[in-house]
Amino acid sequence: MNEKIRIIEGDITRQEVDAIVNAANTSLLGGGGVDGAIHRAAGPELLQETRQIGGCPTGEARVTKGYRLPARWVIHTVGPVWSGGGRNEEALLANCYRNSLQAAVDIGAKTIAFPSISTGAYRYPLEKAAEVAMIETKRFLKQGADIKEVIFVCFGKKVFNAYQEAFQRIFGG
Ligand code: APR
Repeated sequence: MNEKIRIIEGDITRQEVDAIVNAANTSLLGGGGVDGAIHRAAGPELLQETRQIGGCPTGEARVTKGYRLPARWVIHTVGPVWSGGGRNEEALLANCYRNSLQAAVDIGAKTIAFPSISTGAYRYPLEKAAEVAMIETKRFLKQGADIKEVIFVCFGKKVFNAYQEAFQRIFGG
């Protein structure tokens, strides 16, 4: 299963995969960070489609087309805002990964790229978030899902190192 996981440093908007995951907010109307980058790269039709969806609760995922992105689909998920760890943040972040992977399976996407959900504006501690990402991805893949590759696209060295370490810990890579 380890061969299905890849950790890279880069820009998720340039990934040539079936689906990229967006770290959105509950309105799905765009924002800064990776959300802003994805909307800029996809073009205005993306916002037209997300506007039709009418929002997404924290921890859930919604699918749109990728428009001008190399990726065919964008899976929008809403991570929890970190408020100390006592507000069910870990379970909600785990839901983001599980629901995004399930959405990929449902649309037949075989390769999926994740950003480091919630670790920017939402202030989720990076090492904790990376561990949740790996544990949940491993649990999902163990169920035999028809996924060829899961790529974690890290924006900068610090994020890359945290995801690399979490991968070693959880997958024994
Ligand atoms: N490619 C990959 N990762 C990126 C990119 C990019 N082009 N741009 C930013 N990132 C990284 C950030 O460096 C961070 O590691 O994505 C991670 C998530 O950070 P945010 O984008 O701030 O997302 P999040 O912490 O989940 O906060 C979501 O921010 O942009 C708004 O609308 C969004 O309200 C929502 C909130």
